[in-house]
Amino acid sequence: MCGIVAYIGHREACPIILKGLKRLEYRGYDSAGVALLTPEKNLNIYKKSGKVSDLETSIEGKDLHANTGMGHTRWATHGVPNDVNAHPHLSGSGEFAIIHNGIIENYASLKQALIKRGHEFKSDTDTEVLIHLIEEVYKNNDLGFEEAVRMALTQVIGAYAIVILSKQDPNYLIGAKKGSPMVIGVGENEHFIASDATPIVEYTRNVIYLHDGEIAIIKGTELTIKTIDNTIKTPYIQELEINLESIEKGGYEHFMLKEIYEQPRSILDSFRGRTHINDAMIAMAGIDKFEDKLKNVKRIIIIGCGTSWHAGLVGEYLFEDFARIPVEVEYASEFRYRNPVLDESDFVIAISQSGETADTLAALELAKSKGATIFGICNVVGSSIPRFTDAGAYTHAGPEIGVASTKAFTAQVTALILMALSIGQKRGTLSSQRLRELLIELETIPSKVERTLATDPLVKIIAEEFKNSTNALYLGRGYGFPIALEGALKLKEISYIHAEGYPAAEMKHGPIALIDEAMPVVVIATQHSYYEKVISNIQEVKARKGRVIAIATEGDEEIKNHADYVIYIPPCEESMLPLLATIPLQLLSYHIAVMRECNVDQPRNLAKSVTVE
Ligand code: AGP
Ligand code: GLU
Repeated sequence: MCGIVAYIGHREACPIILKGLKRLEYRGYDSAGVALLTPEKNLNIYKKSGKVSDLETSIEGKDLHANTGMGHTRWATHGVPNDVNAHPHLSGSGEFAIIHNGIIENYASLKQALIKRGHEFKSDTDTEVLIHLIEEVYKNNDLGFEEAVRMALTQVIGAYAIVILSKQDPNYLIGAKKGSPMVIGVGENEHFIASDATPIVEYTRNVIYLHDGEIAIIKGTELTIKTIDNTIKTPYIQELEINLESIEKGGYEHFMLKEIYEQPRSILDSFRGRTHINDAMIAMAGIDKFEDKLKNVKRIIIIGCGTSWHAGLVGEYLFEDFARIPVEVEYASEFRYRNPVLDESDFVIAISQSGETADTLAALELAKSKGATIFGICNVVGSSIPRFTDAGAYTHAGPEIGVASTKAFTAQVTALILMALSIGQKRGTLSSQRLRELLIELETIPSKVERTLATDPLVKIIAEEFKNSTNALYLGRGYGFPIALEGALKLKEISYIHAEGYPAAEMKHGPIALIDEAMPVVVIATQHSYYEKVISNIQEVKARKGRVIAIATEGDEEIKNHADYVIYIPPCEESMLPLLATIPLQLLSYHIAVMRECNVDQPRNLAKSVTVE
């Protein structure tokens, strides 16, 4: 899941690469490295375990002058995160250098064969094997650089976004992609290559998203795109939609906090232009396209990972409530390796912030191969999933940089609400009158989110109280259950406190044994369907001396008699509860993580975009 950046043109390459790598650090931060190729054919490689800032410090005072270069920020898959395994990697003679995002699955057999033929390896990475292979093909067959890359790639199984440069020719860069993302920025007599558009946006708005099996050859100022079997392709240049402001911190201490606070706006952006209250209708082209199918569909399968899977669970309740369609929510990683029973009649929805998650993409490929209709709910425009699906809905949350997903989740839920309401109306399970009421409610949500954010000072006090806990339990029923799961995931991923989310009633079937005076129990206890039952669950916790933090509805005074802390959120339609109740839980995990001095935006061992299995 590494991040790659490369530059060829008239500017100094190094500052562009380092800045770009910092933007891509969300993809991995085990090590960082750069390769700089001077017009005099000096190839300087600097690499270091740790963050891009560590690399920056280590190269102070070094010769960094070059107009061609590339850099990498790593999330290790093969080989521990140390200086040697850091990218770029060199070929045996030092003639070629490579950066790589992905996994060369047949690296072990390739490596064995190469060792037999006399190759010596310095690192434990799969990537180094590939650059040795390229050099061998180059030398043995007396091929040009481009031909050698192409031929070598035909022997490779796995996923890659690679950039390769050759010491002999400082005006030459080759990029290739299969399974991992790659964007090319086309400037005035200069080109950029990166894992996403964020390193490119301040230099050019013209980008090309490379497709799987394509190779980009940049010679001087000329760009050619070919397929791996040597067919020239006409590049499709698109205009970038993101702007610089949206990928910077804007005065917040962390991206995560900025993104939590952006939610009134991001939720609005995800329904803006789609809701038409007076006409009682929802405009979603992707849904309209499959109107006939959705009217009669027998079930919907939702797939995703992590937070996106939690949004899928909310989707299950929404589709059942409003469209009366049975729903199965599956972890993409499980679904793809089972032998799922599905066919042309199925409608499969993949949810993914990044649109690049390898397991989700592979699960979709499986669904497509069985003839199912595949639909994507994604945030990153132009990413792999939206390009692969039959139709979809963008969530329009804007770039999410913090590794912990916040605004992307509420935007996914908003998109699912719209979809469920739209399909419900088409199927006749939701009256226009009720639809109108729900749309009016949805319009109030951004201001209610604003009000919910005002709980921040109280949440901070609660965080102070519980920051040293070693475990936490999150409980909820109905729409509160996926929120409990999401709250627990947020806490564990950024503060490293073990946390579990449970359906409140399941507590008595096991987790209740864990409760004692040291156990914080966060309960979604708003005045909705299960209120009384949840109060009983709180009593059960209190009877075992657990400490209860309740998320409750404004005006509910009674709850104060049961819970140790109460965080009030505005009253809302039950189906929209996830859009509000999630927010204090995001803030709670954020403050606890900050108080524990954890790296909030880049938690250990994680990466934002999981493009490996
Ligand atoms: C969320 O906070 C996580 N970091 C993670 O679970 C994430 O939701 C998951 O990796 C899925 O990513 P995607 O939405 O980009 O597919
Ligand atoms: N497999 C390569 C390595 O471990 C690249 C990792 C990745 O893209 O996640 O260095």
